[in-house]
Amino acid sequence: MARESAAAAGVSVRFVNEDALDFEPVVGSFDLVHDRGFLHTLPAQSWGKWKRLAGSALKVGGLVIAKEFVVDPRRAFGPRGLTESEMRGVLKRGFRIEQLNFSRFSEREGAGSSMLVVARRTQTRLS
Ligand SMILES: C[S@@+](CC[C@H](N)C(=O)[O-])C[C@H]1O[C@@H](n2cnc3c(N)ncnc32)[C@H](O)[C@@H]1O
Repeated sequence: MARESAAAAGVSVRFVNEDALDFEPVVGSFDLVHDRGFLHTLPAQSWGKWKRLAGSALKVGGLVIAKEFVVDPRRAFGPRGLTESEMRGVLKRGFRIEQLNFSRFSEREGAGSSMLVVARRTQTRLS
């Protein structure tokens, strides 16, 4: 589907099909990291790896845009998600959070059951 979408849009895309946490990007080579529902599938012990991956991939000044479930005991499906405080903690060093808005993925979830975070890679070390 992604290949078809890329072809329809007339853009050249390099698709990589592997464990995302093993991906080794050229350091500082990306302007944007977009994560839609990946971080929230990872156990908490892998959040640091996710942050190092996103942080090392991005140029200083580049953006990570992440949309993830918020912890919500009323949700009967899917992964646990993160609290706002956990999300801010993950991005604490090496990023500056520019926006954090509550939303949802689809109509079957309650309002505010996910968060959309936009954070900019800063000069600061990641840890
Ligand atoms: C909640 S889904 C979101 C899928 C898609 N981004 C979307 O918005 O519909 C999370 C996806 O992450 C994938 N995933 C989980 N761990 C992964 C890993 N270590 N490497 C690559 N993909 C992974 C799962 O297979 C699943 O497709």
